[in-house]
Amino acid sequence: MMVVPGPASTELGKLVAAELKAKVVPVEFKRFPDGESRIRFEGDVKGEDVVVVQTTGPPQNENLVQLFLLADTARDLGAKSITAVVPYFAYARQDKRFRPGECFSAKTIVTLLRTCGVGKIVTVNSHNPALLKTLSVPVEDLSAIGLLAEYFRKRGFEGAFSLSMGKKGLDTAVEARKVLGGDCDYVPTQRDVVTGNVTLGKKPLAVKGEVAIVFDDIVSSGGTMMKAVAYVKEQGAKHVYSACVHPLLTDEVREKILKAGAEEVVGTDTVPNVVSNVSVAPLIVKALKKRVGPVCG
Ligand code: R5P
Repeated sequence: MMVVPGPASTELGKLVAAELKAKVVPVEFKRFPDGESRIRFEGDVKGEDVVVVQTTGPPQNENLVQLFLLADTARDLGAKSITAVVPYFAYARQDKRFRPGECFSAKTIVTLLRTCGVGKIVTVNSHNPALLKTLSVPVEDLSAIGLLAEYFRKRGFEGAFSLSMGKKGLDTAVEARKVLGGDCDYVPTQRDVVTGNVTLGKKPLAVKGEVAIVFDDIVSSGGTMMKAVAYVKEQGAKHVYSACVHPLLTDEVREKILKAGAEEVVGTDTVPNVVSNVSVAPLIVKALKKRVGPVCG
């Protein structure tokens, strides 16, 4: 097996290769003055099971095009199989035609990956794993919630109160509780499907005097996390921490979450960021050790 770390996941790709004891095929990357990407494999992948590691966080469109270029080039160079490790899967939130005539983005991305020769996709906490699994390439969706909870447990937060967003998201808090012990519940967040605005319902949380950790899959504008952290503080929690798998946030957003009452904002390296204190490499390695996919198309 050979690992090709894409320009958006160079560090994570190298970590995965090191843990797998697999050869790394470096990629030379150049951005032309007009913004177009050019990649070049600095090694031979002919006849090999190739694992391309490339996240598709911001700038999503550029990172996606690079992923397509990496996969299609690996196929042209004679790779035996191509597995795309896409730690953050962009466009997964557009997982159906919400309105007539609208694009079904998640399907389009998977179709393009298949066309570029990808036989298997490995991703982490994608927005709608059940939907991804019905598309034209086998998708394995991994969860990094346990790793985030483990990060806090190792720092002495055993017994902390685990919280997640909205009733539908309660599974996330339950998953974290399996590692942390303590109680779990959900913050009553609701998203308006038309405006996208997040509001809070009225739901008492038994967090008085507790150390509480609020988990979410994504922090982007930070609106949801800020409201949740402030609510948990209002409910009497002594200390509140914010944890997310995909930190799409800017430093300014991190500051706002801290101002809302969080003592720390923690994310993983699915999207390399100043808060990426937890690596998903062990999860990905475990999944890759199972098998790699055939070349499609
Ligand atoms: C929603 O489905 C996700 O789980 C996150 O809560 C959401 O993407 C966070 O977005 P923002 O940080 O912009 O509020």
